[in-house]
Amino acid sequence: MIDRRSFSRLLSLGALALASGLGLGGAAAADTVKVGIIGPFSGPFALQGKNFQAGVEAWLAQNGKSVDGHDIEIVYRDLPTANPQQSRALAQELIVRDKVQYLGGVYFTPDAMAITPLLKQGNVPLVIFNAATSAIMTSSPLVVRTSFTTAQTTTPLGKAAVDRGVKKFVSVVSDYGPGVDAEAAFKKAITAAGGEVVESIRMPLNTTEFSPIMQRVRDAGAQGVFAFLPSGPPTLGFVKSFNDTGLKQSGVKLFATGDLTQESDLPALGEAASGMITSFHYAVSHDSDVNRKFVAAAEKALGDPAQLSFPAVGAYDGMHVIARMIAATGGKQDAEKAVEAVKGLAWESPRGPVKIDPETRHITETIYLREVAKDAKGHWINKEIQSFPEQKDPGLAK
Ligand code: PHB
Repeated sequence: MIDRRSFSRLLSLGALALASGLGLGGAAAADTVKVGIIGPFSGPFALQGKNFQAGVEAWLAQNGKSVDGHDIEIVYRDLPTANPQQSRALAQELIVRDKVQYLGGVYFTPDAMAITPLLKQGNVPLVIFNAATSAIMTSSPLVVRTSFTTAQTTTPLGKAAVDRGVKKFVSVVSDYGPGVDAEAAFKKAITAAGGEVVESIRMPLNTTEFSPIMQRVRDAGAQGVFAFLPSGPPTLGFVKSFNDTGLKQSGVKLFATGDLTQESDLPALGEAASGMITSFHYAVSHDSDVNRKFVAAAEKALGDPAQLSFPAVGAYDGMHVIARMIAATGGKQDAEKAVEAVKGLAWESPRGPVKIDPETRHITETIYLREVAKDAKGHWINKEIQSFPEQKDPGLAK
């Protein structure tokens, strides 16, 4: 016997196979290549999704809306918060009904994990613009990622902390994939540098009240806090609480990945974040011509320059990758060939030189140590102070 749920799942998988395999849809019907982009375009994380869109639009404005004569049509789908079931349903609908040839976007890890099992049957690659857990890459050979992993961004922080005389840490992370990866990477890095983690705290993803956590940090007598939370309202709340509860004032140092100091939050944080050391793959203030042109185009798409943040660069580079895939397949739907074509692809991103690692399909990039400071015009920025070039994802190292 087969129950109703399994039956409807079988039906939808059948539809995936039909849409991709029997020529009932896909690119054959028209010269237009559809790209489905899933992101948080409404709700508390809407600014992150808006940055996906700004990155896509910046790329289209600079490079045009077609590749080798194949018009690109972007189909946006809203996924406000981490919701794997809804993510899977949206991806399925994009593949079967909208007949997209490519999927892109995806802010949260659980949403990416829910989509990867559909890719092979749907004959669709997924280019991840954000979701940052290392293991996503091993869940399907049809995933390519243009963002970062928390293992990658966290690793340089261990030595940076010890170099500044901060050795005894409490680690505080959101209790899901990228937080667990960050916790492990920080512990490894700080131990290697001669420091230690005296307590590891994992918070539920939806935590909004951080003062009990700050109290635990105080009780542990730590010199430093390492933190990762997904960028958006939680990170703003966490850094504010670190300041408001007096921990910053008492001399405890907060070290974090750049998720906690995204540029769009800096005006609201102001002095509360001043001097904070973070490590990340992208700063809006990155000094290069490619970045200045990108920033101008992305700010135009956003309408408000103060809203620009890192998801825009993941999306912009994601479009670069998708365009190469379209060129390599002549606009025809062939997920395997598309992914094969971008293995080893290298280019200059607004963040600096990058390359798609041919083995892991994750992006190799420079990770920068930064300090929150004011620029010459008095705007708060993440000022790059040290670079670690050609960082692969240590979370995927064999
Ligand atoms: C993730 O869920 O993988 C994620 C989300 C937001 C971030 C980083 C990672 O800032």
